[in-house]
Amino acid sequence: MSIKIAGTGSYIPERVLTNADLEKMVDTNNEWIVTRTGISERHIAAENEVTSDMAAAACRKALEAAGVDASEVGAVIVATCTPDYTFPSTAANVHRKLQMSKAFCFDLSAACCGFLSALETGTSLMVANKKYRYVLVVGAEKLSTIVNWEDRSTCVLFGDGAGAILLENVDDGSDSGLIASDMNTDGNWSDILKLPGGGSVNPASHETVDAKLHAIHMQGQETFKLAVNAMVSACRKVEADAGITISEDIKVVVPHQANIRIIQAVAKRLGITEDQVICNINRYGNTSAASVAIGFDEAVRTGKLQRGDLALLASFGSGLVWGAQLVRY
Ligand code: UT7
Repeated sequence: MSIKIAGTGSYIPERVLTNADLEKMVDTNNEWIVTRTGISERHIAAENEVTSDMAAAACRKALEAAGVDASEVGAVIVATCTPDYTFPSTAANVHRKLQMSKAFCFDLSAACCGFLSALETGTSLMVANKKYRYVLVVGAEKLSTIVNWEDRSTCVLFGDGAGAILLENVDDGSDSGLIASDMNTDGNWSDILKLPGGGSVNPASHETVDAKLHAIHMQGQETFKLAVNAMVSACRKVEADAGITISEDIKVVVPHQANIRIIQAVAKRLGITEDQVICNINRYGNTSAASVAIGFDEAVRTGKLQRGDLALLASFGSGLVWGAQLVRY
C-alpha cells in the first residue's frame, strides 16, 4: 500500500498587517519584532472570511493540482485551534462549501502541531481502510480572532491562513507520502501556552471576557527553549528510524514558523544549510496549524521540492505536542 501526495494548496488572506501598523496599536517597534522574531508582516482575514473559507480555498487548490473532483474525497481532517464554531466542525463547513458528497469530516485539535497530527491521522485512516482513496489533510487558522491586540508580547506574532495536502492511496508499492514519524505529547506543560476561556474550565461569562481569557496566553521564553530541543530530538529520531542522514538526504525541512531564531537554532543543530529550510515567517508570522502546510505548498510551487524528493516536517506547540515526519513528495 502506498499513499502519495497527489496535490497541495494554500490560501493567504489579502489584508497585510505590517510592523509599522502594530507600532500604532501597541508599544512596540519594527526593530524589536524583526530581530526577536523574524516577522515583518502577517496577513489578517477579512471580518466575514472565516476559518472554513480559508480551509476550503486551500483544499480547492490542492484538488485542482491533483485534477481530482471534491466528490471523490473520502475524508477531510481540519486541524485548527480557531474553528468556525465549537460545533459543528470546521471540516463539516468545508464539506458544504466544496459541495462534497461522501466525505467523512472532522476537526483535530493539536494547536501548532495540528497539521502533522492530521497527516499522521489521515495516513493511518487510509492504511486501515482502503475505502479512503482520497483524504484532504488541512491546517487552517483565523488566529486574529483569539489575539489580545493590547498585549504586545503576543499580538505581533500571529497571522491567518490555510494549507492543505490531498493524499491518494495509489496502492502500487511505491515509497511515497508519510514514510516515518515521531509524534509526542507531554501534558505536564499544558499551562505555558493556552487559551484559558470558553471551555469547561472557564465557560464564557462577562468575567472571562473582561479578564481577556478568550485570547492566547503564552510564556514565551519557556516555550522557546522547549521548542528547539523537542523539534531537534524528534527529527533525530525520525532520521535514525528511517536510516537516512538529514543533512544529505533531505531536500527541504519544513519547520513550524514560530520564531526565526527557533528555526535557525534547529537548522544549526541538524547541520543543514539555509537553502534546505523553508522559511516564510517574515511574510506570514505564526499561523499555528497552517504554517507547515503553507510552507510545504510553497516548497512544491516554487520547485524547491520535486517529485521523488524527501522532505522533513517538524512542529511544536501547545499541549505540549511536538513531532517530526519524513515525507516523500
Ligand atoms: O507556535 C507555538 C510555539 N510558540 C513559540 O514557540 C514562541 C516561542 N517564544 C518566542 O518566540 C519568544 O520568546 C518571543 C518572541 C515570544 C519573545 O521573545 P524574547 O526574546 O523571549 O523576549 P522576552 O519575552 O524575554 O522579552 C524581552 C523584553 C521584555 O522587556 P524587559 O522586561 O526586558 O524590559 C519585554 O517586555 O522585550 C519586551 N517585549 C517587547 N518589546 C517590544 C516583549 N514583546 C515586545 C514587543 N515589542 N512586541
